[in-house]
Amino acid sequence: MWKKKDLIGIEELSKEEIELIVETAVNMKDILKRPIKKVPTLRGRTICTLFYEPSTRTRSSFELAAKYLSADTISIATSTSSVQKGETLLDTVKTLEAMGIDLFIIRHSASGVPSFIAKNVRAGVINAGDGMHEHPTQALLDVFSVYEKKGRLDGLKIAIIGDIFHSRVARSNIYAWNKLGSEVIVCGPPTLIPPYIESLNVKVTYNLDEAIEDADVIYVLRLQLERQKKGLFPTLREYHMLYGVNSERIEKAKKDVLVMHPGPMNRGVEISSEVADSLISVINEQVTNGVAVRMALLYLMLGGKGDEDTV
Ligand code: CP
Repeated sequence: MWKKKDLIGIEELSKEEIELIVETAVNMKDILKRPIKKVPTLRGRTICTLFYEPSTRTRSSFELAAKYLSADTISIATSTSSVQKGETLLDTVKTLEAMGIDLFIIRHSASGVPSFIAKNVRAGVINAGDGMHEHPTQALLDVFSVYEKKGRLDGLKIAIIGDIFHSRVARSNIYAWNKLGSEVIVCGPPTLIPPYIESLNVKVTYNLDEAIEDADVIYVLRLQLERQKKGLFPTLREYHMLYGVNSERIEKAKKDVLVMHPGPMNRGVEISSEVADSLISVINEQVTNGVAVRMALLYLMLGGKGDEDTV
């Protein structure tokens, strides 16, 4: 049974809660395979997506997830809303709540915004990515994608490669895999690995071959050029030479390794097209699974009882 009003981060979830989301997502994935992908579970509920940063995957998959569960949805584009007239974030959310919103899905460039909103509204709040803090639903869909392929969530070696410093995806994945009993190793240029990272119970290496040796999952991060200060690494070409995941690197990995990426990708920088489009890549399946996992969360948070009979 789900008890939380909000989902702000993986840090606050228990192993059992993560497993419940994965189990529920298995049932939701079945709905996605039906010719008519629609169930009445959340009829009468209203969900609002409020994104202060760009998004393709997260926003559209939440909207699809809500629609497949028969919830009503509204999507606020901050560029055309009264935010442009100076309305505060809290006033914006309270205004929308007064119209009957049951759940807000919020992305913001500042860490802590979804948590702040959650403390000030009765409606539920899901963090769709806040600054460099967490992106919990990305990690949940990643965990689900690995579960589909490997059939288990513990005893795995997850190598997270690239821009760890700016990555909320990395932090959420580290929390998730630690709770599930799998080992995490992070790898990237020293300037993109924060000094505190070892306190999160991960191993650190600056050598890509060492990171991917024996890895069950190679999780490649987007180089977040929009958040970078100059001088963190010499050139994109050099970054690719040292930390780009390409076919040569993959030759040294396990035969059944999975390659993942949260998207959007910088092809030819952190990952080559040859690897991104290869049979060991589950990048497109991550996107499909994003809908199933977000359906599971909406169901658990807004209406479900945690058992499969009601869907
Ligand atoms: N992975 C991810 O959050 O993608 P979007 O920015 O497209 O939502």
